This record gives sequence, C-alpha cells and structure tokens, in this order.
Amino acid sequence: MTPQTNPFTLGVASGDPLPDSVVLWTRLAPRPYEPGNGLPGDGAIDVQWELASDESFRHLVQNGTVPAPAADNHTVHLDVRGLEADRFYWYRFRVDGRWISPTGRTRTAPAPTADVDRGRFGLLSCQQYDEGYYTALAHLAGEELDAVFFVGDYIYENAINAQAGARHYTAPLPEFFNHVTLNLTDYRLRYALYKSDPDLQAAHAAHPWYVTWDDHEVGNNYAGDISQDNDPVDVFRARRAAAYRAYWENMPLREAHRPTGPDMRLYRRFQYGRLAQFDILDTRQYRSDQAYGDGWQYPGPESEDPARTLTGAEQERWLLDGFRSSTALWNVVPQQVAFCRHKNTTADRSQLSMDAWDGYPASRDRVLAGVAEAGVANFVVLTGDEHVHYAMDIKEDFDDPDSRTLGVEVVGTSVSSGFDGEEHPDDWTLTLAANPHMKFYDARRGYALVTLERTHVHAEFRTLTGVVTHGAPVSTAACFVSEAGDPGFSAA
Ligand SMILES: [Fe+2]
Repeated sequence: MTPQTNPFTLGVASGDPLPDSVVLWTRLAPRPYEPGNGLPGDGAIDVQWELASDESFRHLVQNGTVPAPAADNHTVHLDVRGLEADRFYWYRFRVDGRWISPTGRTRTAPAPTADVDRGRFGLLSCQQYDEGYYTALAHLAGEELDAVFFVGDYIYENAINAQAGARHYTAPLPEFFNHVTLNLTDYRLRYALYKSDPDLQAAHAAHPWYVTWDDHEVGNNYAGDISQDNDPVDVFRARRAAAYRAYWENMPLREAHRPTGPDMRLYRRFQYGRLAQFDILDTRQYRSDQAYGDGWQYPGPESEDPARTLTGAEQERWLLDGFRSSTALWNVVPQQVAFCRHKNTTADRSQLSMDAWDGYPASRDRVLAGVAEAGVANFVVLTGDEHVHYAMDIKEDFDDPDSRTLGVEVVGTSVSSGFDGEEHPDDWTLTLAANPHMKFYDARRGYALVTLERTHVHAEFRTLTGVVTHGAPVSTAACFVSEAGDPGFSAA
C-alpha cells in the first residue's frame, strides 16, 4: 500500500553505534497526529534504504529493503552490519520509489583496540514541548560531534493545549494532545508530536544518539512499579508497558531491547576504542520507592536504609563487574538523576532530593566502592534531570572538601523544560556555598559538550538567551577541565 502523501514527516535517526554497526530508524506517518499514522492497521510496508560513504550517495556501501510493521506503529529499526570502524556514513529511506526521507549522517565507533586520541559528545536531556522551542537542538545539529547522549525526559506526559503552551502556536494543535498520556495510542502520538519538530529532526539526522530515559517517558517520579500517585500496581504496570513499547518504537534501539510487557532492558555498555567505556544506566525501572514520600526531605534511617537501591541489584552487579573488567582510560556513566550530594542550605543538616542519588545514599556508596575497588582512575558521570548546568566533583566525603575527589559529574541543562531560565537564579549564591564540590551553576537552557582526550576531559556548557521564542543564539557560558589521573574540575 502506497501512502498518498509524504510518509517521512518524523525524520530519521541513528543510534547505539558499534565499530561495525549502527541502528537506523524512521517512522512512516503520512498523518502523524492520527492513531495509526494514517496507514493500514495490519501488515507491513516495505521501506528501501541506502547507506553511503558520502553525502551525495555516489559511493553506495549497502542497500536493501526493511519492513515497517504496523505492529511496531510503522517504525523501522535497521541494524546495519559489516561497516568500517570510526567512519561517517550517510543514510536515507524510500517508499515506493516516490517518497524519499531526509538524509541522516551517522558514525561508527572506533575499534575496541584503537588508540583513539579524542571523542567529542553532546549531552542532552529534558525537552518539554510546551515549555519552549528546540533551538538548542538546532545548534547541536551544527556541532562537530562523534555522538550524542540523551539522558532522559525525551517526552513529558502532561496535557498540551491547542497553543502548545509557551510555543504560542497560531495554528492549533489537535485537541487529542490535551490530556495526560496513559495508553499506547497516547504515547505513540506524543512521540509523533515531539518528533514533528524540525530542530529535533535535525539533531537526530546530524549525529548518532545513545538514549536512556528518566521518569517522564512514563510519568512523573515513578519508581519501579510505583507511580507518583500510588496507582494500583497492575494499572501502573499496564501504563508502563504502553510507555516502554512506544519508547522502543520511537528510539534508534536494537531488537534486543524490545520490551516484554512492562519490562525493557535499557542499560547497556559501549566501548569507544581504548579511550572510553560508556555504561548507560536505567535508574527508574528497578529503583526502590522514594523515601519519606519523595520531594526534598531530611535524610534519615528510611532514606539511608542499605536495602534500598536506585539501580536494582542486577544492574548494580553489572555496573561493578564492568568497572572491574574495564581497560578504558575513561569510565563514563551517562544516567538520569544527580549523582553528587546537593544541599539547599549551608547548615550541617540539609534537606535533600529523595528522587536523586541523594535519596539512595547506600546505592551511591556501593557504586563508589566499586569504582575504588576496581581502580577506576577516571570516572565521569553524565546527568540530566536538573534543568540547569552543574560542574561537580564527586567527593569521597561530601562533608569534607579536603577528602579525595573520585571523579567528576557533568549535569547538562534542559533543552526546553523550565522555559527561558536565567543565568543566576535566586538560589545561585546559596547553592554554590552549600555545595563546595559544585564548581559551576547556570540555570539557562542549552546542552553540554563533553570532550574526552588522553590527558583530560573537557566540559563545555552551552546556553541560550531563551526558548519561548525560536532562534536564540547559542554561546559558551563556561568550560571546565579535569586531568586524567587527577580528578577534579577547574575552569578552563
Ligand atoms: Fe526533566
């Protein structure tokens, strides 16, 4: 069956690069805001694909046909094999010879034994559609990068009004979007809305992405099987199954990650030559419920219970085993929520966020013990969720600024969540004073760039003047460096 109008309305994407392979993604949607994408509800549509070593497709490397099954909401997850390591490739899709997709560029990872000098990566999170435009993503599309890490809140579950909130659309959105996402149709259409954004499409087309989720891909601050509002577990598990299914369908992930009901293995490991190992975490699916009813609370026996976990026992074992077997120079952990302690007062006793690692200190201690035990010299955590930029030193004892620094954490600000933001919000001075290991704090929108080299890691914090009007310029607010073998951020 041939679509009567262009089915390539949601762009293309690539992800999870390996030395010889990368996942290519697209979704056929001639009518993206309708359930079923405006296509038949059963069967599959054949999609032709081409991969070339040049942008004009003169040097074709591979081509073929791949189905876009109706059961997968007409998405394609093509695991191209047999590629050369550490190279750019260009790809595109066609349907029926008549419709052609935008061209995407991707890049394979270096060979595991390659002595790589440098890798440069984008760090993205938190793109609430109705709180601003994706200008940050338009700028990120133009950066010279090897890959992008997206560490959560790709979609938000909230109702979106006809004006698309802060975007102030004059052509109204369908009324369908004006409710909280609960079922499979809701989540599928929510991805269609987000992915219809041209800046998001440009950022996917420019670079391969490694994605992981946080809470809003399902619902705010859920923990394992427990929703924020403590819905009956079977009700929430059905919602989680719908959300995970739509997530897999819409991300450039391999078949191996396809969910089974409410379960989806998303944590995974990648090598970047001898330079880096990436251990991408899922701190939502297996976590214990937030202590003391969630929110900002004083820590105590409930939050400090060693039985509590943010990763789940299996993922924790996998992570620590990975540290032990690692031969990489940099051990990089892209994940969701703030890893370093974050007080909101200079007093000794402070409330802490029960949703972040601060609410699971025993879990954090076990990870740091694993880092020490494995002799990981260069530990880097990449984080989202906070909707602000932070550069932080990971301390052996956060109460003692003179204690050893075990690694560094780059918290990248939101793409759009939180509206325009500001450089120095009201709590700026207090937050820096309360957290001496925090070297930088900026509450504007944007993204971070993380460059790994043999001698150091470099973090560049990119910010925009605003997101509620489209097209703001981007600039670098600050750069920080941490030397290999001597962790700790200093201004560059
Ligand atoms: Fe967020």
